[in-house]
Amino acid sequence: MHISASILNCNFLKLEEEIKKVEAAGIDSFHLDVMDGHFVSNLSFGTPIFNALKKITQKPIITHLMVFSPIKMVEWFIPGSLEIIFHYEAMKDEKELKATINKIKNNNLKCGIALNPPTPIENILPYLSEFNEILIMSVNPGFGGQKFIPETIKKIEQLRNLINKENLKITLSVDGGVGPENSKLLITAGVDKLVVGSAIFREKDYSLIVKKLKNV
Ligand code: DX5
Ligand code: ZN
Repeated sequence: MHISASILNCNFLKLEEEIKKVEAAGIDSFHLDVMDGHFVSNLSFGTPIFNALKKITQKPIITHLMVFSPIKMVEWFIPGSLEIIFHYEAMKDEKELKATINKIKNNNLKCGIALNPPTPIENILPYLSEFNEILIMSVNPGFGGQKFIPETIKKIEQLRNLINKENLKITLSVDGGVGPENSKLLITAGVDKLVVGSAIFREKDYSLIVKKLKNV
Protein backbone atom coordinates (compact mmCIF):
# COMPACT_ATOMS: atom_id res chain seq x y z
CA MET A 1 0.00 0.00 0.00
CA HIS A 2 1.37 3.39 -1.08
CA ILE A 3 1.63 5.72 1.92
CA SER A 4 1.85 9.42 1.05
CA ALA A 5 2.78 11.56 4.07
CA SER A 6 0.97 14.89 4.39
CA ILE A 7 3.39 17.21 6.22
CA LEU A 8 0.70 19.77 7.12
CA ASN A 9 0.72 18.64 10.76
CA CYS A 10 4.41 17.87 11.15
CA ASN A 11 6.58 19.84 13.57
CA PHE A 12 7.68 22.76 11.38
CA LEU A 13 10.17 23.83 14.03
CA LYS A 14 12.11 20.71 13.06
CA LEU A 15 11.12 20.36 9.41
CA GLU A 16 14.31 18.76 8.10
CA GLU A 17 14.42 16.27 10.97
CA GLU A 18 10.74 15.39 10.47
CA ILE A 19 11.17 14.84 6.72
CA LYS A 20 14.18 12.57 7.26
CA LYS A 21 12.44 10.67 10.08
CA VAL A 22 9.26 10.01 8.16
CA GLU A 23 11.21 9.12 5.03
CA ALA A 24 13.24 6.57 7.04
CA ALA A 25 9.94 5.21 8.37
CA GLY A 26 9.21 3.92 4.86
CA ILE A 27 6.71 6.29 3.29
CA ASP A 28 6.41 6.21 -0.50
CA SER A 29 5.84 9.89 -1.27
CA PHE A 30 5.21 13.32 0.25
CA HIS A 31 1.86 15.04 -0.03
CA LEU A 32 2.13 18.83 0.02
CA ASP A 33 -1.06 20.59 1.09
CA VAL A 34 -1.05 24.04 -0.51
CA MET A 35 -3.93 26.21 0.73
CA ASP A 36 -4.77 29.75 -0.42
CA GLY A 37 -7.11 30.92 2.37
CA HIS A 38 -9.89 31.40 -0.19
CA PHE A 39 -10.79 28.01 -1.63
CA VAL A 40 -10.31 26.70 1.92
CA SER A 41 -10.39 28.84 5.05
CA ASN A 42 -6.76 28.18 5.88
CA LEU A 43 -3.45 29.41 4.52
CA SER A 44 -0.74 26.76 4.63
CA PHE A 45 2.47 27.09 2.63
CA GLY A 46 3.81 27.42 -0.89
CA THR A 47 7.09 27.41 -2.78
CA PRO A 48 9.46 28.14 0.15
CA ILE A 49 8.42 24.88 1.81
CA PHE A 50 8.23 23.07 -1.53
CA ASN A 51 11.76 24.20 -2.45
CA ALA A 52 13.08 23.21 0.99
CA LEU A 53 11.38 19.80 0.82
CA LYS A 54 12.71 18.92 -2.60
CA LYS A 55 16.24 19.77 -1.44
CA ILE A 56 16.11 17.19 1.37
CA THR A 57 14.18 14.31 -0.10
CA GLN A 58 14.47 11.95 -3.05
CA LYS A 59 10.90 10.77 -2.55
CA PRO A 60 8.24 11.87 -5.06
CA ILE A 61 6.32 15.01 -4.10
CA ILE A 62 2.63 15.19 -4.88
CA THR A 63 1.30 18.73 -4.64
CA HIS A 64 -2.32 19.04 -3.53
CA LEU A 65 -3.58 22.49 -4.55
CA MET A 66 -6.52 23.58 -2.42
CA VAL A 67 -6.68 26.88 -4.24
CA PHE A 68 -8.75 28.86 -6.71
CA SER A 69 -7.17 29.30 -10.17
CA PRO A 70 -4.69 26.43 -9.70
CA ILE A 71 -3.57 26.96 -13.31
CA LYS A 72 -1.68 30.05 -12.16
CA MET A 73 0.36 28.01 -9.66
CA VAL A 74 1.28 24.99 -11.77
CA GLU A 75 4.62 26.48 -12.86
CA TRP A 76 5.61 27.20 -9.25
CA PHE A 77 5.74 23.50 -8.50
CA ILE A 78 7.82 22.42 -11.46
CA PRO A 79 10.44 20.94 -11.36
CA GLY A 80 10.14 18.81 -8.31
CA SER A 81 6.53 17.65 -8.21
CA LEU A 82 5.81 14.26 -9.66
CA GLU A 83 2.14 15.23 -9.77
CA ILE A 84 -0.26 18.09 -9.18
CA ILE A 85 -3.74 17.46 -7.84
CA PHE A 86 -6.31 20.25 -8.04
CA HIS A 87 -9.95 20.50 -6.92
CA TYR A 88 -12.98 19.96 -9.13
CA GLU A 89 -14.85 22.45 -6.89
CA ALA A 90 -12.34 25.22 -7.66
CA MET A 91 -13.24 25.18 -11.36
CA LYS A 92 -15.65 27.86 -12.58
CA ASP A 93 -16.45 25.95 -15.80
CA GLU A 94 -15.41 23.08 -18.06
CA LYS A 95 -13.06 25.38 -19.98
CA GLU A 96 -11.01 26.05 -16.85
CA LEU A 97 -11.02 22.35 -15.95
CA LYS A 98 -9.64 21.33 -19.35
CA ALA A 99 -7.11 24.18 -19.43
CA THR A 100 -5.80 23.18 -15.99
CA ILE A 101 -5.46 19.53 -16.99
CA ASN A 102 -3.56 20.55 -20.14
CA LYS A 103 -1.28 22.95 -18.29
CA ILE A 104 -0.26 20.21 -15.83
CA LYS A 105 0.17 17.54 -18.50
CA ASN A 106 1.96 19.82 -20.96
CA ASN A 107 4.55 20.29 -18.22
CA ASN A 108 5.01 16.51 -18.08
CA LEU A 109 3.50 16.15 -14.63
CA LYS A 110 0.91 13.61 -13.61
CA CYS A 111 -2.51 15.18 -13.17
CA GLY A 112 -4.93 14.40 -10.34
CA ILE A 113 -8.38 15.67 -9.42
CA ALA A 114 -9.63 15.98 -5.83
CA LEU A 115 -13.31 15.61 -4.92
CA ASN A 116 -14.68 17.04 -1.68
CA PRO A 117 -17.05 14.85 0.34
CA PRO A 118 -20.27 16.45 -1.00
CA THR A 119 -19.18 16.28 -4.66
CA PRO A 120 -20.69 13.28 -6.50
CA ILE A 121 -18.32 11.23 -8.65
CA GLU A 122 -20.70 11.76 -11.59
CA ASN A 123 -19.27 15.28 -11.97
CA ILE A 124 -15.92 13.96 -13.20
CA LEU A 125 -17.05 10.89 -15.16
CA PRO A 126 -16.93 12.71 -18.53
CA TYR A 127 -13.23 13.51 -17.91
CA LEU A 128 -12.16 10.33 -16.12
CA SER A 129 -9.61 9.15 -18.67
CA GLU A 130 -7.78 12.51 -18.54
CA PHE A 131 -6.64 11.94 -14.96
CA ASN A 132 -3.77 9.89 -13.58
CA GLU A 133 -5.21 10.03 -10.08
CA ILE A 134 -8.48 10.69 -8.27
CA LEU A 135 -8.16 11.93 -4.70
CA ILE A 136 -11.25 11.28 -2.63
CA MET A 137 -11.34 13.76 0.25
CA SER A 138 -12.57 12.02 3.39
CA VAL A 139 -12.64 15.34 5.26
CA ASN A 140 -13.70 18.79 4.12
CA PRO A 141 -10.33 20.24 3.09
CA GLY A 142 -8.49 22.90 5.04
CA PHE A 143 -6.99 21.27 8.11
CA GLY A 144 -5.12 18.19 9.24
CA GLY A 145 -6.33 16.12 12.18
CA GLN A 146 -10.01 16.16 11.24
CA LYS A 147 -12.45 13.27 11.72
CA PHE A 148 -12.81 10.78 8.87
CA ILE A 149 -16.17 11.00 7.03
CA PRO A 150 -17.29 7.36 6.54
CA GLU A 151 -19.88 8.24 3.84
CA THR A 152 -16.97 8.87 1.46
CA ILE A 153 -16.19 5.13 1.35
CA LYS A 154 -19.15 4.64 -0.99
CA LYS A 155 -17.52 6.97 -3.55
CA ILE A 156 -14.32 4.95 -3.37
CA GLU A 157 -16.20 1.70 -4.01
CA GLN A 158 -18.10 3.24 -6.94
CA LEU A 159 -14.90 4.55 -8.52
CA ARG A 160 -13.03 1.31 -7.94
CA ASN A 161 -15.77 -0.63 -9.77
CA LEU A 162 -15.72 1.85 -12.64
CA ILE A 163 -11.92 1.90 -12.96
CA ASN A 164 -11.84 -1.90 -12.99
CA LYS A 165 -14.78 -2.23 -15.39
CA GLU A 166 -13.30 0.22 -17.92
CA ASN A 167 -9.78 -0.99 -17.22
CA LEU A 168 -8.60 2.59 -16.62
CA LYS A 169 -5.05 3.38 -15.51
CA ILE A 170 -6.05 5.66 -12.64
CA THR A 171 -4.66 5.72 -9.10
CA LEU A 172 -7.40 5.98 -6.50
CA SER A 173 -6.39 7.77 -3.29
CA VAL A 174 -8.02 8.96 -0.10
CA ASP A 175 -7.06 11.98 1.99
CA GLY A 176 -8.18 13.15 5.41
CA GLY A 177 -8.56 11.47 8.78
CA VAL A 178 -6.87 8.32 7.50
CA GLY A 179 -5.22 6.07 10.10
CA PRO A 180 -4.90 2.49 11.31
CA GLU A 181 -8.52 2.57 12.48
CA ASN A 182 -9.89 2.90 8.93
CA SER A 183 -7.02 1.95 6.58
CA LYS A 184 -8.20 -1.68 6.26
CA LEU A 185 -11.70 -0.53 5.33
CA LEU A 186 -10.26 1.85 2.74
CA ILE A 187 -8.00 -0.76 1.19
CA THR A 188 -10.93 -3.20 0.96
CA ALA A 189 -13.00 -0.42 -0.65
CA GLY A 190 -10.32 -0.23 -3.34
CA VAL A 191 -7.84 2.61 -2.74
CA ASP A 192 -4.32 2.36 -4.12
CA LYS A 193 -2.86 5.13 -1.97
CA LEU A 194 -3.44 6.44 1.56
CA VAL A 195 -2.62 10.08 2.31
CA VAL A 196 -1.79 10.21 6.00
CA GLY A 197 -0.82 13.20 8.12
CA SER A 198 -1.61 13.42 11.82
CA ALA A 199 -1.95 9.66 12.26
CA ILE A 200 1.80 9.54 11.57
CA PHE A 201 3.05 12.79 13.08
CA ARG A 202 1.17 12.40 16.34
CA GLU A 203 3.07 9.14 17.00
CA LYS A 204 6.46 8.85 18.70
CA ASP A 205 7.62 6.03 16.44
CA TYR A 206 6.89 6.84 12.80
CA SER A 207 8.18 3.48 11.54
CA LEU A 208 5.71 1.57 13.68
CA ILE A 209 2.68 3.43 12.37
CA VAL A 210 3.87 3.39 8.75
CA LYS A 211 4.46 -0.37 8.98
CA LYS A 212 0.99 -0.80 10.44
CA LEU A 213 -0.57 1.21 7.61
CA LYS A 214 1.42 -0.65 4.97
CA ASN A 215 0.85 -4.13 6.26
CA VAL A 216 -2.84 -3.94 7.11
C1 DX5 B 1 -6.71 18.42 4.38
C2 DX5 B 1 -5.50 17.93 3.61
C3 DX5 B 1 -5.09 16.56 4.06
C4 DX5 B 1 -4.76 16.51 5.51
C5 DX5 B 1 -4.43 15.11 5.89
O1 DX5 B 1 -7.24 19.55 3.75
O2 DX5 B 1 -5.78 17.84 2.23
O3 DX5 B 1 -3.94 16.13 3.29
O4 DX5 B 1 -3.68 17.36 5.80
O5 DX5 B 1 -4.07 15.16 7.21
P1 DX5 B 1 -4.72 14.20 8.29
O6 DX5 B 1 -4.18 12.83 7.89
O7 DX5 B 1 -4.14 14.75 9.54
O8 DX5 B 1 -6.20 14.31 8.18
ZN1 ZN C 1 -4.18 16.85 1.05
